[in-house]
Amino acid sequence: MKEFKRYTITTALPYANGPIHIGHLAGVYVPADIYVRYLRKTGRDVLFIGGSDEHGVPITIKARQQNVSPQDIVDKYHGIIKKSFEDLGISFDVYSRTSMPLHHETASAFFTRLHSEGKLAQMESEQYYDEEAKQFLADRYITGTCPHCGYEKAYGDQCEKCGTSLSANDLIEPRSALSGNVPVKKATSHWFLPLDQYEGWLKEWILDGHKDWKANVYGQCKSWIDQGLHPRAVTRDLDWGVKVPLADSEGKVLYVWFDAPIGYISATRDWAQQNGKNWEEYWKSDDSRLIHFIGKDNIVFHCIIFPAMLKAEGSYILPDNVPANEFLNLEGDKISTSRNWAVWLHEYLEDFPGKQDVLRYVLTANAPETKDNDFTWKDFQARNNNELAAIFGNFVNRAMVLTHKYFEGKVPASTQAADLDGILKEIVSLKEKITHSLEQFRFREALAFFMDIARLGNKYLTDKEPWKVFKTDPEQVKGILNNVLQISANMAILSEIFLPKTADKLKKMLNLGETSWESIGKVMLSEGTVLNQSELLFEKIEDADIQKQLDKLEKSKQENKAAAMSSEPIKPNITFDDFSKIDLRVGTILEAEKVAKTKKLMKLSVDMGFEVRTIVSGVAEFFEPDQLMGKKVVVVVNLGKREIKGVESNGMILYAENADGTLMMVNPFNEAMNGGLVK
Ligand code: 2FM
Ligand code: ZN
Repeated sequence: MKEFKRYTITTALPYANGPIHIGHLAGVYVPADIYVRYLRKTGRDVLFIGGSDEHGVPITIKARQQNVSPQDIVDKYHGIIKKSFEDLGISFDVYSRTSMPLHHETASAFFTRLHSEGKLAQMESEQYYDEEAKQFLADRYITGTCPHCGYEKAYGDQCEKCGTSLSANDLIEPRSALSGNVPVKKATSHWFLPLDQYEGWLKEWILDGHKDWKANVYGQCKSWIDQGLHPRAVTRDLDWGVKVPLADSEGKVLYVWFDAPIGYISATRDWAQQNGKNWEEYWKSDDSRLIHFIGKDNIVFHCIIFPAMLKAEGSYILPDNVPANEFLNLEGDKISTSRNWAVWLHEYLEDFPGKQDVLRYVLTANAPETKDNDFTWKDFQARNNNELAAIFGNFVNRAMVLTHKYFEGKVPASTQAADLDGILKEIVSLKEKITHSLEQFRFREALAFFMDIARLGNKYLTDKEPWKVFKTDPEQVKGILNNVLQISANMAILSEIFLPKTADKLKKMLNLGETSWESIGKVMLSEGTVLNQSELLFEKIEDADIQKQLDKLEKSKQENKAAAMSSEPIKPNITFDDFSKIDLRVGTILEAEKVAKTKKLMKLSVDMGFEVRTIVSGVAEFFEPDQLMGKKVVVVVNLGKREIKGVESNGMILYAENADGTLMMVNPFNEAMNGGLVK
């Protein structure tokens, strides 16, 4: 394999319109950080780039909703995002932002170069326009009825109900989200990147030249290319973004997906300026290796469009790999910012102080590398309690406690050389496996090999039983403990990659200084080294902590339901005659019993004044029979008889539904007579 002189590692720039959640972390930032820490540890020259994507329509929409400027929105979230990454220990060399002047200048110059070399085509198209707001409407600013599922509040780019991607032209009865008016079509002129002209080159470069890319990435690229590529507009009619640097282009900005990946370049320039470096080495030198860490929704932009832009510009290197991950779901449901169905990083850090590495561990062990995966709080707890604490933490703790107990906390002499030899050989072999997995971007596998070292250590301790041997053969115990401390030290160094906070803690406990990657698989602690006090690497996570998180999610669920109910469209008007056809009367429940073999049904006997009726009602989940007896209810009495689960029901009781699905009886405010008309 080609050896590179430098590594330019980028991570998708998150939109600065909301905080970071576990889906972002598992898909992009945790694997990238592991990879970068590995490269640094093995002595490579690495630049690790992150930053906020601060343009695009969702940001302007949020600003409008909150009656603040888009800059206010991005300032707020850029701050939250940057801090939460720092707190988790994502070790960016630079965390930049696309609203900074240097980025505008860089993106502008990139566009100008393509334009002046005739690499962009100007074309006219018809776009929706709001005559009252006097502006063209981005797809997100248009709502209407989804042609697929009939949902009446679909956006011009996507229907949030059925998930279909749309274009504004697909919407039935489109409306402007700005004024509520029906938009008109108006001609506008934009600049296009003629992707069709790069099709042949992309086929060669990706389909022939990058068979080494992950199957999910390669497959998506192939499907795009096979469907045929078309020119893509790289400008938009909007007032938030990088201004199109041409005369007569008032009101036009670069499309966010044109300027955002250039953000990686401006971040590098930003870093180079602050650190006295040459940014071009990382972008224009053939011995630099460019790798983009992204989620699967970004594949086309990083594998097809951005490379075509770089190719068109001509002076840049191209990505050597794009190890995109699939999606992480949460408790069986898609993570969603708008539905608040997420575990937010900044909240996690508050709720679980000092447990950064637990999250890193769980998200890596369960990373959606080849398919979508699910995060559940129960799995989080189990992986912490049964793996981190019970295997890794327990092993280190036993090694430390026994050394303090028998040898006053000093590393004893090595007396079990044959065992040590075997152990170190196994560590070397696991280190090689870890290296291979990391090089292939298989981080889950690498982490599993890492944990095998702790398993090996635990097994060695259990087999050797030093606590029993000590009475008869303390010399042997010296060697056993020396060996387990060497294993712990090796794990401390490997932890630097996967679990950096734990690595710091463990190195401190072992009094282990800076130790190189080459030392892994060798003796690291010399006899007589004084160990520090032992502390638990991982504490058990209790059921109550998990329940708190589950309750938080349940609350989101209920709030969503409530929002959905309150936005339930009002049914079309009816006439008074229609209403009068419904005969509503007051009754009193005399008896109630659950219908056998059903969960929901209750058989009620209701005194309607003029007669006593049997009514079957779906309330058994919400009330016990004796809670219902004697209660006044409102009944629809002219629905006719119906047999429900073998019981003849004659009428329907009215209930109101709450957001959580519970039912509440509708009953008269004052005492009302049985049989009294409700009108
Ligand atoms: O999908 C997203 O969140 C985008 N903001 C990613 C941009 S990646 C890059 F191009 F900057
Ligand atoms: Zn739909």
